[in-house]
Amino acid sequence: MKRDYPHLCKPLQVGNLTFRNRMTSAPMGATDIDAQGTPGLRTLGFYEARAKGGAASVTVSELVVHPDTDGSQMLHLSLATPGQLGAFAYVADAIKRHGAVASIELSHSGQYAGTYMVDKKAKGELCQWGPSDGVRPDGMKVRALSAEQIDDIVAAYANAAVLARRAGFQMCMVHAGHGWLINQFLSPYFNKRTDEYGGSLENRMRFARRILTAIREATGPGFPIELRMSGSELFDGGYDIEEGCRIAAGLEDLVDLIHVSAGSYQFGFSITHPSMFRDHGCNVHLAAQIKQHVSVPVIAIGGLSDPAQMEEIIASGQADGIAMARALLADPELPNKVMANRGDEVVKCLRCFVCMAERPVTQTRRCAVNPLIGREFEGLTVPRAARLKNVLVAGGGIAGMKAAHTAALRGHGVILCEASDRLGGILNTEEALPFKRDMYELGRTYEHLCREVGVDVRLNTRVDARLCEELEPDALIVAVGSEPIPLPFPVADNARVLSIDELYLDGAEPGPEVVVIGGGLTGCECALQLARTGHKVHLVEMRAELAPDANIRHRPILLAELEGEDIDVLTGAAAQRIDADGVTVTMADGAERLIPCDSTISAIGQRSRRAVVDELRDGAPFVRIVGDAQRPANITLAIYEAYHAALDV
Ligand SMILES: Cc1cc2nc3c(=O)[nH]c(=O)nc-3n(C[C@H](O)[C@H](O)[C@H](O)COP(=O)(O)O)c2cc1C
Repeated sequence: MKRDYPHLCKPLQVGNLTFRNRMTSAPMGATDIDAQGTPGLRTLGFYEARAKGGAASVTVSELVVHPDTDGSQMLHLSLATPGQLGAFAYVADAIKRHGAVASIELSHSGQYAGTYMVDKKAKGELCQWGPSDGVRPDGMKVRALSAEQIDDIVAAYANAAVLARRAGFQMCMVHAGHGWLINQFLSPYFNKRTDEYGGSLENRMRFARRILTAIREATGPGFPIELRMSGSELFDGGYDIEEGCRIAAGLEDLVDLIHVSAGSYQFGFSITHPSMFRDHGCNVHLAAQIKQHVSVPVIAIGGLSDPAQMEEIIASGQADGIAMARALLADPELPNKVMANRGDEVVKCLRCFVCMAERPVTQTRRCAVNPLIGREFEGLTVPRAARLKNVLVAGGGIAGMKAAHTAALRGHGVILCEASDRLGGILNTEEALPFKRDMYELGRTYEHLCREVGVDVRLNTRVDARLCEELEPDALIVAVGSEPIPLPFPVADNARVLSIDELYLDGAEPGPEVVVIGGGLTGCECALQLARTGHKVHLVEMRAELAPDANIRHRPILLAELEGEDIDVLTGAAAQRIDADGVTVTMADGAERLIPCDSTISAIGQRSRRAVVDELRDGAPFVRIVGDAQRPANITLAIYEAYHAALDV
């Protein structure tokens, strides 16, 4: 067969192992890990799904090699307790039985141990260990590792690799990037040692070389080592790509694969995990440069999910393979789809950071577009319905499309009605925002998926009680979405007020000076885009803070983007009225201020289309209201509810 992406689908030799294609599953921490660091069933299911989805290798995340000095983050694996090996062996089996290579990441957080623990105090007394004495930005004291401790850690890496191999892992990844311990030794910023481990690059590499040598000696050559490094630390005082190339060249004799990531967790989170404000593949240039200095295969990573782009990276010789984390959270079947020339069915990651935001808060893993995350072990396939039914879905936004697609996969006959002339709903507005392009594309993907599975899509068709009587569906899923909340204060007839839809969908031009009322996610994104397209923007928010509805990972990134623009932010400011010459607000101190503008954008929030919902409550024997129609919330909830409504029919 002729593959659409021949380079991406080609096998890759890594030491004695053959990767079945060029798409690998980057390390991602799981959730049900007990206090001893033993993986549970959810963890097994999580990695198995990525293997079953066709990834060439699946790297199990962060095995803490030296618990004595690594307070760890939370939920990290450990092989330190006798009797744990079986649980690891089951995980390795679960990966291998689907034809993927089972790998495990060996790590030590060094001075950043415990940074992301829910209960930071629990590990606070450990006194974090690093290359040099110091104080962390959060005030935690750091102590320099002694030569004896270093010897001990080196031995611990080798010991962990041996145990991992015994458990059935076929290779390991040594994490030497992202600001963790080995990276701290490599870095001139962290490493101020004056002994044989500090100073010259040769000395700074000594710790890494000793670890890699010890693993190689302990496991033998038949156990490939993947070195994960940051091509450049990308902050002032850290090493740059020129030194990154020398590090890769200086370590390549000890490894079989070099995995080039970027930046550090602490100083460049949105670079290491490229946010929606960065280009897809923004870090690939680092892998490309390193590839010119080494002869072992090189893996590129960072915001990659588009098969065509990944194919081009390999075809053009920038890298030999691609690693993906979030893309495989969103769609574990991505590699299988690529292999089967079904690249247009890939559900792409939105880079919304729901995945990384949930774990510190709820200790669960979520993905906005994948309702099965964290409970893959319950089953991955959408079961065929025992009794096939007629399902009517009202509303062609993402919730409606997800419900229709899932119901059709179950074998039901599905009619999807959309009142407007196109599917996509609120996602269509995102087309106007370059940084929300992935969200817009999600609408297009689901439109394609719905048509593929034979959903009867009826545009310009509003579902009402009469239509329900006519069609007599067995089940009705109401996904009619939400509408803007009207402004709760006086607006003069001659004032120019635009809705988000008018701005984004109708292309209304707001004039040079604009007030955006509402500093939630929608308002912040709108202000950002208006500022970037040359408008003078005033952003008015009643609450004390902007974007409280954004998740804890995305919010600081969004706020930094806003700070980068010349936006007049007024928090604690309540709009009182809008007249032709501007918006009058009451400031936090009670003072009134007139903000002159050419137009005002209303972004104060959405409310469910309650009247439509109420009309449809008796539309079928089974009725389920999902997404914004139930309560305006977020895309994650909309997709989860829609998926389960279709399963529950
Ligand atoms: C949910 C999640 C968990 C992660 N956990 C780890 C980890 O345990 N170890 C690690 O080295 N990197 C971890 N990462 C970083 C990824 O391996 C990867 O470097 C990063 O997400 C950029 O790749 P991407 O753009 O394909 O997501 C994690 C990323 C995500 C999204």
